[in-house]
Amino acid sequence: MTFEEARALDAADPLRSARERFALPDGVIYLDGNSLGALPKGTSTHLADVVERQWGQGLITSWNKHGWIDWPTRVAAKLAPIVGAAPDELLIADSTSVCLFKLLGAALAARPDRKVILVEEGSFPTDLYIAQSLAKFMPAVQVCAVPRDRIPSAINAQTAVLMLTHIDYRSGARHDMKALNAAAHDAGALTLWDLSHSAGAIAVDLTGSGCDLAVGCGYKYLNGGPGTPAFLYVAGRLQDELRSPISGWMGHADPFSFAGSFKPVRGIRRFLTGTPSILGLAALDCGLDTFADVDLSEIEAKAEALTETFIDAVEARCGDQVALASPRDSAARGSHVCFAHPEGYAIMQALIARGVIGDFRPPDLMRFGFAPLYNSFEDAWRAADALGEILETREWDQPRFRERQSVT
Ligand SMILES: Cc1ncc(COP(=O)(O)O)c(C=O)c1O
Repeated sequence: MTFEEARALDAADPLRSARERFALPDGVIYLDGNSLGALPKGTSTHLADVVERQWGQGLITSWNKHGWIDWPTRVAAKLAPIVGAAPDELLIADSTSVCLFKLLGAALAARPDRKVILVEEGSFPTDLYIAQSLAKFMPAVQVCAVPRDRIPSAINAQTAVLMLTHIDYRSGARHDMKALNAAAHDAGALTLWDLSHSAGAIAVDLTGSGCDLAVGCGYKYLNGGPGTPAFLYVAGRLQDELRSPISGWMGHADPFSFAGSFKPVRGIRRFLTGTPSILGLAALDCGLDTFADVDLSEIEAKAEALTETFIDAVEARCGDQVALASPRDSAARGSHVCFAHPEGYAIMQALIARGVIGDFRPPDLMRFGFAPLYNSFEDAWRAADALGEILETREWDQPRFRERQSVT
């Protein structure tokens, strides 16, 4: 892959104008949208309006006047085409960790005769911690963690819930959602998917692949901004059966009756707990607007082409100095790629100093996320070239790049 070839791919890219929807800093190649998405151009103005006019002038009347009370479902509806769900199967609420707790707790209660939460070894830590914490509250419940290749054979009549991250946060490896949903359902288990590294990065079809439950971050590929709330999905066919283990007043059938006992509202809103984060929702609303008129198949195709371009360019430029730690088969990966190097941390710091922003995951992985809406093929080529130069010149071998920071 030459620079000219990368430029030609950009010229033919049906999504190339979507980059204009973002306020990316000049001179930066941003390959960390899988940690924190870029700032949409519309967010600052919208937030200022929500703060100054709606909150400042409208004060408490804005809960009705501007419909704040419905934002958790109104904003969620914009996510529906991105994850292949019906609008009333989605809700914006809490953090991904809290949403996981709620849906896992609800699923366990719906399978009272089964005791096992089946997870993948090496899943994102919060997923494992949430499963472990529920098992502590429900002493009969056990967490069974198995390697990726043993998941299908580990599903059995004891499995209450199969809980998996669709795209692995390190390797970018993709699970076959449809096949695993079918295997779980054949055994009578429910499925809960963490879509944090999938939603907005690749084509997700929650309905078509038969998912029961799902959660995901709003601040990664959905561009909702730091700490914006997460989303949760409950298939319509399960909504009346399942109940959140954290019953708060916002999930009540009539919250403003201030009744002394809990009665869940019908539908997805029963998974609300407390007062929604209106400023976070306002930012996520703008993040989701960056997907307006975008076809999911174009997202999927570009994720595949960008990651393939990057892998080809890195391998051509760096040879065997780095090792691909992501699936080579594009159908088996998401929209980020990891390369391993024993000095990966220092190399990533050197890349960041040059304006190529990726991140590092221990013990030795340099992780590069490609957001189909705003990353270009030129970004992929330039990042690979910078990596090659840093390795060639040992630019990374400096104390300032070796010094560890708390958030990377
Ligand atoms: C797969 C996955 N799940 C969950 C989270 C964290 O979610 P939250 O901090 O919103 O609870 C992350 C964060 O990077 C993640 O990668």
